[in-house]
Amino acid sequence: MSVPPPLASLHTPAELEETLTFLGLYHRETGMPGRAARQQQIRRHGDLSLTTSELTHGARMAWRNSTRCVGRLPWATLEVRDLRHLTQAPQVFEALCHHLREALNGGRIRPLMSVFGPGVRIHNDQLIRYAGYRQPSGEIIGDPQNIALTEYVQQLGWRGGAGQAFDVLPLVIEAEGKVTLFELPAEAIHEVSITHPSCPALDALGLRWHALPVISNMTLEIGGQRFECAPFNGWYLQTEIAARNLADEARYNMLPAVAKALGLDTSRRRTLWLDRALLELNVAVLHSFDEAGIRLADHHSVTRQFQHFEELETRAGRPVKGKWSWLVPPLSPATTPVWHRSYDDAEIKPNFTVQRPAWAATQAACPFHASK
Ligand code: ARG
Repeated sequence: MSVPPPLASLHTPAELEETLTFLGLYHRETGMPGRAARQQQIRRHGDLSLTTSELTHGARMAWRNSTRCVGRLPWATLEVRDLRHLTQAPQVFEALCHHLREALNGGRIRPLMSVFGPGVRIHNDQLIRYAGYRQPSGEIIGDPQNIALTEYVQQLGWRGGAGQAFDVLPLVIEAEGKVTLFELPAEAIHEVSITHPSCPALDALGLRWHALPVISNMTLEIGGQRFECAPFNGWYLQTEIAARNLADEARYNMLPAVAKALGLDTSRRRTLWLDRALLELNVAVLHSFDEAGIRLADHHSVTRQFQHFEELETRAGRPVKGKWSWLVPPLSPATTPVWHRSYDDAEIKPNFTVQRPAWAATQAACPFHASK
């Protein structure tokens, strides 16, 4: 009869220490009793598994520590669905559809995370992403940022795209060593058509965006443990959609069309037509989400809420870390309080780290950078 290895050998001493440190913080911050007994239990049995309550608080701390996020004030309201028992692709897919519905909450979007079991990964960087198609002419239809993801799902057998500007990509779920494609049902994808309060020509551009940003390519790290499939969402900030996704030259590049719809003089950049088009596109996105009853932040209120978050954190004895270049909005940055500040950008745990895209690993190695 073979003797199973002691559980303690399944983790490194550093992971054990990190878990014990995290549990110390967990008990201090939540006021939950039983710290010494819990730490002793872990030392004795070597099983680092977190309880649902520990996982939930760890996920909230990870959000609180996200240096690139300006919307951290409601970090303690994050709800966590502990689905670590789910390891099969169809179960994961069903739970993701449920996540999309629960998070949308009829428009009153709530911050939500679903944590899946070992061996599960989602290859899409967000649950809802628009396809990007490169035409033989070199022209691009859709979101240029997602060309590689689109080609990847096509290689996996996806034939579903209509070749339009806003085709939602299927989900690529890896589980039990296999990769499977799943097409999201229409009711799981809530989108908002972009209209302008006073310029119908802008409505005619047929712009739209999805209501929920659900990040699915970040590893959640808590106390020496890594959760590779822990998709989470908050709600959008209008500048993400109107000043970047639809505006960037390397994304939908809509400012020239918006300027035309507004009848601006585009003969010289010096007329500031780009700036005017950008502003009106932001007005349109705020107006459209408001009309549709979908929660959306604006850069003035979110940066003031961030100041409030800093005050609360300082009072709690936790200095706030931040990446200034991510915190300042891309529209009228100096009109917001974060512009006038500087931040320490050190990364602390619990936190999220971006995963390498799954398709990058399958691509042929570059001969100049071949590994030794
Ligand atoms: N910037 C990303 C996008 O435009 C979303 C990142 C997360 N944003 C958020 N508000 N939670 O899709």
